[in-house]
Amino acid sequence: MTAVREHFGSRLGFILAAAGSAVGIGNLVAFPVAATKSGGGAFLLVYALFVFFICLPVMMAELALGRSSDKDPVGAYRTISKGSKLWSIPGWFALITPFMIAVFYLVVTVWVMGYLVETLFGNLDKLASQDFFIQFINTPQIFAYLVVLMLIINAILAMGVKDGIERAAKTLMPMLFVMLLGLVFFVLTLENAALGLKYYLVPDFSKIDGTVISKAMAQAFFSLSLGMGIMITYGSYMKKRDSIPGSSRAVAITDTLVAFTAGLLILPSIFHFNPQIDPSELSDSSAGMIFLFLPKIFLALQDSIGYVGASAVAGIFFFLVLVAAITSLVSIIEVPIATLRDERGMERKKAIYVIAAVQFVLAIACAVSFGMATWLTDFVQLAGVNKSFFDLIEIIFYDTILPLNGLLVCLFVIYKWKKANFDKELQEGDSDFAGSFSQKYVNFSLGTFIPLILLLIFINTVALKFFGYSFI
Ligand code: PHE
Repeated sequence: MTAVREHFGSRLGFILAAAGSAVGIGNLVAFPVAATKSGGGAFLLVYALFVFFICLPVMMAELALGRSSDKDPVGAYRTISKGSKLWSIPGWFALITPFMIAVFYLVVTVWVMGYLVETLFGNLDKLASQDFFIQFINTPQIFAYLVVLMLIINAILAMGVKDGIERAAKTLMPMLFVMLLGLVFFVLTLENAALGLKYYLVPDFSKIDGTVISKAMAQAFFSLSLGMGIMITYGSYMKKRDSIPGSSRAVAITDTLVAFTAGLLILPSIFHFNPQIDPSELSDSSAGMIFLFLPKIFLALQDSIGYVGASAVAGIFFFLVLVAAITSLVSIIEVPIATLRDERGMERKKAIYVIAAVQFVLAIACAVSFGMATWLTDFVQLAGVNKSFFDLIEIIFYDTILPLNGLLVCLFVIYKWKKANFDKELQEGDSDFAGSFSQKYVNFSLGTFIPLILLLIFINTVALKFFGYSFI
């Protein structure tokens, strides 16, 4: 067992670290595109409702679980269920899920890093050419980028919770906000920016259907880093005197504001590039947008600000995405580290080496599953379609297990740990919580309709991804 548990130094430090986890590639690219394609302002509204009425209570549940048990996810479920075998299963899920999501997120971040370096070397024109992406992800350079990326992340983690994670968040997050705002101010001055804003913001309620609703929900859940054991682990580093409801709200607001602001950057740029564009043709995947589409948009800026100016904008954008991805990766890799420390009594440094070694091998397996290794490229068949090793990890852990983990957290907190204990933990450090609307709402919703919604999403995903059948 480790001697004294490390804690975040301040409430702001915790909020920035948790927001660093929450703000990721999902906010900067997936959200703006999803919003534009799915009814603009109407999607924003549905999304915001999900964040505050469905996801926020789950975040409070995860943080309370971690803080009350003072443990990693495996330890939290074990301690609070008093060693129940059955309830140890969600604990293991909450360990394996972040571990595997980190693997595919590492690979995508490696590509972002590569695009940043290429831009800095003056190769934006190459990035915008048709076949660059598929060639680039199949060059051996990506292994070098992977090594550098893992060194950066693990160096932050090696410094510990306060001097590593918290300090990095305190430096990187304000930098991210400034860069994002700077880019937004710049693109708003471009020709046709208002057209983009119109598509992004004017509500079209006719687009809201079952698929859009479930997409908004999945996006909100992933964006707040829920179901990945991260908030349980970060909760265990929170001080008792800090308010869980208040801090969760601050994290959710920051995350949503960043996602919203990213739309003010992406949409005007797209419409400046092509005012006639039909947004429904934009790629659904973040990777498709970042690596295939956005480089073309940045290159087109050379007409107004020259090649160097266009490269500078692209460079700032890739750097922004890289920073957001690094702070997310730090949080997700901390989960297995905390587990090895708490459950095996391993020293932080040793835990880092063990996890980094396994993740390195798995990340390479993912990285070569785009053509370099054929057996990993056509790894399995799901619902009649060939899927690579990378796709499989994404489908199992991100699409499927994430909502299941959320569902299990709700059931565990309300029915096993019990409402009264959970409620007591939320009141700790928050004297205004008792008797508030928020208290009643959180206690009621987590035991009733939130797990039900997560269950429906889980069933629908399994049917869709594994059997090719959709209920909605
Ligand atoms: N919230 C992150 C995002 O929007 C999700 C994430 C968190 C991914 C942690 C990986 C690690 O991209």
